[in-house]
Amino acid sequence: MPEHPDIRIDVSNMMAPHLPGGTERAAFEGGMADRFGRAFDEVALRRKRGEMGFFDLPYASETVDQVEGLANGFGQWFEDVVVLGIGGSGLGSLTLRDALCGPLWNERSDEKRDHFPRLRIIDNPDPDTVRALLDHLDPARTLFNVVSKSGSTAETMAQYLATRDWVERGLGEDEARGHFLFTTDPGRGALRQIAESEGIPTLSVPENVGGRFSVLSSVGLFPAAACGVDVRALLAGAAAMEARCRSRKLVDNPAGVLAALLHAAHTESGRSVHVFMPYADRLRSLALWFQQLWAESLGKEGGGPTPLASVGATDQHSLLQLLMEGPRDKVVLFAGIEREDDVDIPERHPEMPGLAYLGGHGLGELLDVERAATAEALRREGRANLSIQLPGVTPHALGQSLMLLQIATVYAGGLYGVDPLDQPGVELGKTLTYGLMGRDGFEAPELDAGDPRWRF
Ligand code: PA5
Repeated sequence: MPEHPDIRIDVSNMMAPHLPGGTERAAFEGGMADRFGRAFDEVALRRKRGEMGFFDLPYASETVDQVEGLANGFGQWFEDVVVLGIGGSGLGSLTLRDALCGPLWNERSDEKRDHFPRLRIIDNPDPDTVRALLDHLDPARTLFNVVSKSGSTAETMAQYLATRDWVERGLGEDEARGHFLFTTDPGRGALRQIAESEGIPTLSVPENVGGRFSVLSSVGLFPAAACGVDVRALLAGAAAMEARCRSRKLVDNPAGVLAALLHAAHTESGRSVHVFMPYADRLRSLALWFQQLWAESLGKEGGGPTPLASVGATDQHSLLQLLMEGPRDKVVLFAGIEREDDVDIPERHPEMPGLAYLGGHGLGELLDVERAATAEALRREGRANLSIQLPGVTPHALGQSLMLLQIATVYAGGLYGVDPLDQPGVELGKTLTYGLMGRDGFEAPELDAGDPRWRF
């Protein structure tokens, strides 16, 4: 057994004749492989032009040194690290914390956290959440890591202003500065300006790395490293996957296989809803991260798939009926993990058949069996699904998974014919918000009040 086994992808439940009506081998080897080859070339060209910086993050050794230095020194002065960041600037940290720090990290005692800080991620500028959090924190023991690539996102800037004020009221202006760390663009934006004029420490997000592709940059690495995560192993896993995805030949490129099959399922068989369903609570946030990555990268020009984050077995009692018998417009991406530790289910009530069969098994075993059974039930109904299998929720395996999904996303961009790196659709809402909030240079728009007859 290698020290760091590969994650495995099983797409047999997408392929005919195993899946009735699935992708034919001839199509996979023919038109699909050709289309993938063209998408691969486009990505390779953009990478060469320096536009796709996320591919290079696993090899950015200076960044890791800097992040680890800060996380192991400065980061350990605090009991709570609070990330203020939204979208790609918050979901990466959430994913890393939930997967790699494990369940209930913030609820654990100092000893059970090995004295690493708690990690909280605040994305929504909801006053109830922010007030409740601040009521709970000690400003003297809290670091705010303000994460914004642009340094101008309204939600994050508003949270920064509110928390800065709160820390200053608690500790005074001078001391407050030592409770902030900015993660932002190397040269532009308000955060960069404030940092330079006030001497606030910063980490840079490379210019060619956008929010949703930034989890393996200082955006995700600092908060994870501050909580003791082995970020070098995470990056090594990402590098291993990057190396596995260097082939132009579809069958040899796991990210290509994912992208090509999901794209074909949508455009050729109407399976436009892509449900990401890990059978592990530790991967719940990975599903949310994937949802944002897939939606914001591919939902463009009137097209694109609809991703849906879910978790097994919980959503077997919520979504599964729809997946089994609803419209045939979905693909389910299962994720399973190999577990070393299980919780035994004791043998009690041998007289009760409804309980007796569970005794002698494990909770993790039950989850895994349910995943396999659900995949098979879907297949028998002609419902497409595929499985990603992680050899444990380790930093290495998660690094592989994150890189796999990011590379699949940029290939899918090529296949759908859209630019996966931009997000023009969110700009209008931002501009209208600026106008309504009175930002200089932005006109307050007239909001169309609609027709009063349709208000009830
Ligand atoms: O993926 C993206 O680019 C977005 O979701 C951004 O991460 C999000 O809008 C926050 O942007 P910023 O990091 O500039 O504050």
